[in-house]
Amino acid sequence: MKPLNVGMVGTGLMGRAHTNAFRQAPQFFPLQRRPVLKAVCGRDVQKAQAFAENWGYESVETDWKALVARPDIDLIDIAATNDVHAEIAIAAAKAGKIVMCEKPLGMNPEASLRMVEAVEKAGVANMVWYNYRRAPAVTLAKQLIDSGKLGRIFHYRAKFLQDWTISAEVPQGGAGTWRLDASVAGSGVTGDLLAHCIDTALWLNGSIETVSGMTETFIKQRKDADSGELHEVTIDDASAFLARFSNGSLATFEATRYARGHKALNTFEINGEHASIAWDLHDLHRLQWFDHRDESALRGWRSIHVSEGEHPYLDHWWIPGVQIGFEHTFVHQVADFFTAIAEGTVVGPTFRDALGTDYVTDAVLSSAKTGQWTKVKQA
Ligand SMILES: NC(=O)c1ccc[n+]([C@@H]2O[C@H](COP(=O)([O-])OP(=O)(O)OC[C@H]3O[C@@H](n4cnc5c(N)ncnc54)[C@H](O)[C@@H]3O)[C@@H](O)[C@H]2O)c1
Repeated sequence: MKPLNVGMVGTGLMGRAHTNAFRQAPQFFPLQRRPVLKAVCGRDVQKAQAFAENWGYESVETDWKALVARPDIDLIDIAATNDVHAEIAIAAAKAGKIVMCEKPLGMNPEASLRMVEAVEKAGVANMVWYNYRRAPAVTLAKQLIDSGKLGRIFHYRAKFLQDWTISAEVPQGGAGTWRLDASVAGSGVTGDLLAHCIDTALWLNGSIETVSGMTETFIKQRKDADSGELHEVTIDDASAFLARFSNGSLATFEATRYARGHKALNTFEINGEHASIAWDLHDLHRLQWFDHRDESALRGWRSIHVSEGEHPYLDHWWIPGVQIGFEHTFVHQVADFFTAIAEGTVVGPTFRDALGTDYVTDAVLSSAKTGQWTKVKQA
């Protein structure tokens, strides 16, 4: 295995998920390129050093520009907050680095387009961490749809529900609550949660043509996490939209952080002419399947435990009946991307694919403002 040196920016939740994936992928998948944890970049040197020690990075940087300038780094992985994605990705591409970036791609479609142009102009391999595509049950759903088993698709239904911002005491901005500050996050639940649902939907069911959205900010003012001052809340707390796909199917999407009782209820259901499928992140190793072609007396929803060797990715893990989880979606992403790099092929979601998602979220936010159905720009 030829080494491929990774320099990662960000030491938070996704910094851990990505690093775990870089470490596990070559143990479980026969990769031709081996990720080497060369350097991690964090603004606080002590935190970055502790992170490097715990996870096995060889060195530490406190300025991402220094990381990008290093000749011994082949791949820049952006696991930092949304406000710095564009600047880092564009600089990395200009320096000829392979780039992996967290979602949403940019703060807005203009920034995302500049990122796409930078990686395409530089001709560097690129990928965005929309990891749910690589939950084996979701990949199985893709295979079932592509094989035509559902027939014509009529409906797509998706939601992503959380409940962690209901209290007016939750502040905005700062290290733990940057998602409530539009100047760091870009938008609220539309770019954060719905973006995941949209990426999965575009992958499974093709492009979206038009949307009609509505958003709400339930708590209008919150304390700033750093200064304690009361400021207007600039993000959308909840977002829902209707959509028409190019294949003629109709869709509903909903995301909120105000659904009491739900922590990360990320689901989709697809209804086709012959069959329906449903998936739920809380039970991510199961795919629900209803087939109208079954013998009528036995017809009903089946709960497929996606753990057999013939299921996507599972022949690389344990034994039938034993499930894998959230972190493995990231391992699969590294395995697929590093395989594509070695073979000189392209695997999604690319930056351009993620721009497509940003065009949908942008159309939803704009429709919510105007109250009009809005056409979605195509990437
Ligand atoms: N794919 C997923 O399932 C998923 C889940 C959560 C978050 N995300 C995305 O991942 C990214 C990070 O989210 P998180 O949950 O890890 O956040 P986090 O708050 O846990 O970590 C963010 C990190 O970025 C660092 N950072 C910010 N600006 C920096 C800079 N200029 N230089 C170096 N480091 C900098 C912070 O110090 C922190 O370590 C976001 O874009 C988010 O939308 C994706």
